[in-house]
Amino acid sequence: METSLEFYSVQTMPPLKFLWEMLSNPLNALTNLARINGDIAHVKVRNRDIYLLNHPEFIEQVLVRQQRKFVKGPSLQRAKLLLGEGLLTSEGEEHLTQRRALQPAFQRDQIEDTMPVMAVSTHKQITGWKDGQRVNMAEEMMRLTLDIALWSFFGHSPEGATERVGKAMKTLLKIFPLTMLPLPDSARGWFPRFRKASADLTLVTEALIANPQSVMAKNALIQILKQNNDGQFTDEQIRSHVLTFLLAGHETTALLLAWAWDMLAHHPHIQGKLQAEIDRVLGDRIPTAKDLERLVYTCAVVKETLRMRPPAWTIGRQAIEDCQIGGYIIPAGSTVITSQWVTHHDERYYAEPKVFRPERWLSRETASLPRFAFFPFGGGNRVCIGEYFAWTEAVVVLAIAARRWQVLPVHSNPATPQPSVTLRPKNGVAVIVEKRN
Ligand code: HEM
Repeated sequence: METSLEFYSVQTMPPLKFLWEMLSNPLNALTNLARINGDIAHVKVRNRDIYLLNHPEFIEQVLVRQQRKFVKGPSLQRAKLLLGEGLLTSEGEEHLTQRRALQPAFQRDQIEDTMPVMAVSTHKQITGWKDGQRVNMAEEMMRLTLDIALWSFFGHSPEGATERVGKAMKTLLKIFPLTMLPLPDSARGWFPRFRKASADLTLVTEALIANPQSVMAKNALIQILKQNNDGQFTDEQIRSHVLTFLLAGHETTALLLAWAWDMLAHHPHIQGKLQAEIDRVLGDRIPTAKDLERLVYTCAVVKETLRMRPPAWTIGRQAIEDCQIGGYIIPAGSTVITSQWVTHHDERYYAEPKVFRPERWLSRETASLPRFAFFPFGGGNRVCIGEYFAWTEAVVVLAIAARRWQVLPVHSNPATPQPSVTLRPKNGVAVIVEKRN
């Protein structure tokens, strides 16, 4: 399934056309840029070189092979305003030290130990549903994954935490575009809503750090942070990590699940196959680590959702030195964008890319895909640390909820993807839930 790599003569798109398209529909803008300008597309906006890399091998060059020549892109650099120097935002040696210290909390057995916690939260959530009720799965999944993150990472859900974090997230996503403006760091104080959201998150973070119940947490994250062996973290860093895992640890997985329900509601035969597998493998048991391998079709549904609706739809980097990709020199200072949305919809790798078809992951069709034709969790030294947690959580939630509930669509078409920091369903995902016999 490899496509041929030639020496690229890079095509440049006029900046105004690009900016206009990015403002009106970023997903189409990047897709068109790739289709018209090829595997390395170039735009120059106000003296800044921007490259969109579309070939899986070029993506691998940026994320893995030449990763040392890049730092995070401008939007994540601005995220330091909120997150401080946490795992998501730190660079170089600092990042490596933090990653080594936190990695033990994300080993497979650690995560599998939290499966009962995931199951309890899911049961709590779905027992609140009434037969025939209309629910917004985007909101339901946001509440559920936040509850799971609080209990699994921190062993505690402080009073009012879910509401506070939920509201703060909404505000932050609304004002996110403003953080892209070239303003000084002190500018965050200019926006009262940012101040309020930040203060609310600080309250929750402090409560999570202070609470003695945290030692009961199944996952080792809070223990690593609290024990702080050899004083490896400053107080500021502990706060950054708690906030990073609180936010990064729930929003993307909530979106993955919301999109999965949207797809299942609009593809009843796929929902039927999923339910049949869950009934056969689990019956009324809650899933264990061994079941994760047996729930093959459920995993394919998750994978196909990540392909078609990748919650992280782009990864940005900034080149800190010149680098050669596809025989072309990308100069230091350039912004490089790779896009899961564009590559996951590329016909060279996926037949009928707009069709939701989990079966493609169970046949030879995808057996020889290049490694970076599918990269919902990124890759290289910055690959998502929560990847296995997200997979496990998605399978547990789907398995428990789909065993008891059938979802029917409210609207005739699936939700429209709205790209912001993450890929969100515009106006949520409305479904009717019906009790299964
Ligand atoms: C479907 C769910 C998820 C998706 C699609 C996702 C996606 C990603 C991607 C693409 C990156 C790489 C960003 C880059 O290279 O610039 C990343 C990094 C990260 N993710 Fe996730 N993520 C998910 C779930 C989670 C969860 C559950 C956690 C928390 C446990 C988490 C925590 C992080 C952190 C801390 C990083 C930074 C890692 C580093 O730089 O060393 N993510 N995620």
